[in-house]
Amino acid sequence: MSESQIKNSQFTVLVVDDDDEIRYSLGRVLGNQGYQIDTAASGEEGIEKVKHGPSPDLIFMDIRMGGITGLETLQHMRSIDSNLQIILMTAFGTAQTAIEAMKFGAHDYVMKPFDPEKVISLASIAIDASRDLRTVSKPSKKVNNEDYKEGIVGKSAPIQEVFKIIGQVAASDATVLVTGESGTGKELIANCIFQHSLRSGGPFMAVNCAAIPENLIESELFGHEKGSFTGATSQRIGKFEQCDRGTIFLDEIGDMSLTTQTKILRVLQDGEIQRVGGSETIKVDVRVLAATNKDLETMVREKEFREDLYYRLNVFRIRVPSLRERSEDVPDIVDFMLQKLVKERKAKATRLSEEAMATLSRYSWPGNVRELGNVVYHSAVVAQGGVILVKDLPDTLLTGGVIQPVATQGSIGLVNPENVVIRDLDLPSPVDPVSTGPQSLADTFDFVYEEVKAREGKRILTFIEKQMIQRAIADTGGNQARAAEILGITRNTLRKRLDEYASDV
Ligand SMILES: Nc1ncnc2c1ncn2[C@@H]1O[C@H](COP(=O)(O)OP(=O)(O)OP(=O)(O)O)[C@@H](O)[C@H]1O
Ligand SMILES: [Mg+2]
Repeated sequence: MSESQIKNSQFTVLVVDDDDEIRYSLGRVLGNQGYQIDTAASGEEGIEKVKHGPSPDLIFMDIRMGGITGLETLQHMRSIDSNLQIILMTAFGTAQTAIEAMKFGAHDYVMKPFDPEKVISLASIAIDASRDLRTVSKPSKKVNNEDYKEGIVGKSAPIQEVFKIIGQVAASDATVLVTGESGTGKELIANCIFQHSLRSGGPFMAVNCAAIPENLIESELFGHEKGSFTGATSQRIGKFEQCDRGTIFLDEIGDMSLTTQTKILRVLQDGEIQRVGGSETIKVDVRVLAATNKDLETMVREKEFREDLYYRLNVFRIRVPSLRERSEDVPDIVDFMLQKLVKERKAKATRLSEEAMATLSRYSWPGNVRELGNVVYHSAVVAQGGVILVKDLPDTLLTGGVIQPVATQGSIGLVNPENVVIRDLDLPSPVDPVSTGPQSLADTFDFVYEEVKAREGKRILTFIEKQMIQRAIADTGGNQARAAEILGITRNTLRKRLDEYASDV
């Protein structure tokens, strides 16, 4: 017996089909791989076998059988053991059955007649998932959502430090500057400061300085008089005035022009504003909280940010740690997010397998908690049962690729600037200096991202993955093992993708 046959002999595969021929041939193909084979000639018989256990590690089941159908059997079986991995088979594939099969929690769905190679690879993937499933992380009693009324989850030392500073500054009227990478929770923290302040009964307004066009931001913040500029058809009261006795949160403050900076400085120093086009000086009582993911110190040095304003804002500084600095918080944040998704009825998964959780804890999270939130949501939706497995996580996490928000908020890119050492990369330099084509790897990714987004809508990763796989196949002259190695994925994943591309055309 080969090593893989020995390994496979610990696993039982149940074949449920009313066709003797299929039971025999499938049993033989899988039996040759070392798996223990059990068979059932109907859905009813299959259910009996599952009921009287032990549960098989994998079930191959026909959809159309005399007696109850494969889909009904599947539902019944999964109500006995929700962790069952079931691959459905059919000779009559329609979109409808494929969709239903997956919706009811099938692991996969194959068309008859099948290629033995494909069946073997499918079985091995499903068995991996089944093994993964047996090591489910403990249901978390530790995360009690009541403990996190603020919505800021974390027990690690760096985030606890942040909580302490919030406690120190909240009740004062001091200006607070919140800094940290994108997606670390700066806005959440500003909100928390407000909630715990003496002004919590007053208004709170957030202004995203990066999202408002330069020519409108002053009018947004300070208001304008009728006729002060084209389009100013009536008087407008700005945010500072509306926020009197309240708190204003100036988000992305590093994106504010020098002119606007000067006016903000005046409010901070004198508590006074002037509407655009107005001559009257208006007193306002507003507490200012500000946030940025820019390096303000460098901006000050380069004269892009007023030094005096910087000192005014930086009275108290909260540096929010990146998720990678507090990866021990990942499990708690994940549990918190899952509980929320379940409560909002957006997903059913409540737990992760140990390996899936470990994968999340290992990842570098360039997009921080926001990226983690996206990944948890994606995986909870994809997961078939109550448990998220490694296979449900986005591929980028497994292949060591990085998902990094590029420039704009909320967008997903593929490059971590830390990994892009442009001078070390052997990239062809643009021949024509006036060329508008991408000039660095980061630009290349920005360019690709925008291009694909424009054409493919939401399927950016799928599109890029296909391009990369096809290039690797061409590059290695069709050598799948080499190609998989270059791409950093398993051969099984590569084969699966190639099969998908083949069936796409
Ligand atoms: N500690 C945390 N626990 C739970 N959820 C969090 C935590 N920190 C952030 N989040 C969630 O992550 C997302 C991003 O947070 P937020 O918008 O506050 O980040 P940000 O630092 O302002 O990002 P950006 O710089 O891109 O504006 C939000 O959905 C927020 O609820
Ligand atoms: Mg923000």
